[in-house]
Amino acid sequence: MSKDNDIYLVLVQHVKHICYQIRLCLPIGSPQNHVLLLSTACKQIPFLVYCKIIDSSIRLNAMIGKILDVDAIESNRVNLQLENIDMNALTKRIVSSFDKAAAKKEINLSFSPAPATVSVKGDMLYMTEIIENLLSNAIKFSRRKKSVSIEISVCDLYALLRIRDEGPGLTEDDKQKIFQKFQRLSAQPTEGERSTGLGLSIVKKYTELMNGRIWFESEVGTGTSFNLEFPKA
Ligand SMILES: Nc1ncnc2c1ncn2[C@@H]1O[C@H](COP(=O)(O)OP(=O)(O)OP(=O)(O)O)[C@@H](O)[C@H]1O
Ligand SMILES: [Mg+2]
Repeated sequence: MSKDNDIYLVLVQHVKHICYQIRLCLPIGSPQNHVLLLSTACKQIPFLVYCKIIDSSIRLNAMIGKILDVDAIESNRVNLQLENIDMNALTKRIVSSFDKAAAKKEINLSFSPAPATVSVKGDMLYMTEIIENLLSNAIKFSRRKKSVSIEISVCDLYALLRIRDEGPGLTEDDKQKIFQKFQRLSAQPTEGERSTGLGLSIVKKYTELMNGRIWFESEVGTGTSFNLEFPKA
C-alpha cells in the first residue's frame, strides 16, 4: 500500500511538473497562439484538422489550468483578492454567458435575482469559477428540453445562491465522492461536453477559502440542487 502510495505521489509530482512546463513554454490556449498557428500552418493542413487541433489545445489547456488550480490550493498558494461582489450582477453576467450552451440543448435557463442588491466579500475570479462550474454542470448533465434555474436569496447574515437542474440526480455512491478530485460519476455529459472531474473539488475549496458553504440536495431521476452560502459583506 505504501509503495503504491509512493508511486502515486511521484506520478502526481511528474504530471504537475509537465503541466508547469507546458504552461511556461507554450501558451497553447491563448488566442494569439491560435492566430500564429493559423497563419503559419493553415496553408499546409486542412481547415477541419486545424479546428480539431485548436479544440484539443483548448481542452488540454483547460485541464492543465484545473490541475494547476488544485496544486495551488493544496500547497496554500491561493492568493485571495477580496472585494465586495454584487452577487446579482455577477450571476446575471455568468448566466448570460451560458445562454448559447443552454439554447443548443433547448434547456430553459432562468435567473431570479435577490429583490435588492446583495454583496459578499470574495475574490471575483474564484467566485466566477465557482458559479460557472455549477452552472456548466447543471447544463452538461441535463438532457434536452429540461430546465435549469438559478436563484439568489438573502437572509440576515448570508446570501444564498441555488442552482437547480432536472438532470439524472446523484446516487448514494456519487454523494460520497462528489467533492473529491478526478471524480467522473454516474452522470455523463449528455452531448459530448468536456468532463475532467476536477471542477467540484475546486469549487468546494474556493468556497471554503471565502468563508462560504456548499451543499446539495438530490434525488435520482428528479434532479440536483447545489446551494452556496456566503456571509454578506
Ligand atoms: N448537477 C449534476 N447532476 C448530476 N451529476 C453531477 C452534477 N454535477 C456534477 N455531477 C457529477 O459529478 C462529477 C464531478 O463533477 P465536476 O464538476 O467535478 O467534474 P466535471 O464537470 O466532470 O469536469 P470539470 O472538471 O470540467 O468540471 C461529474 O463528472 C458528474 O458525474
Ligand atoms: Mg464540472
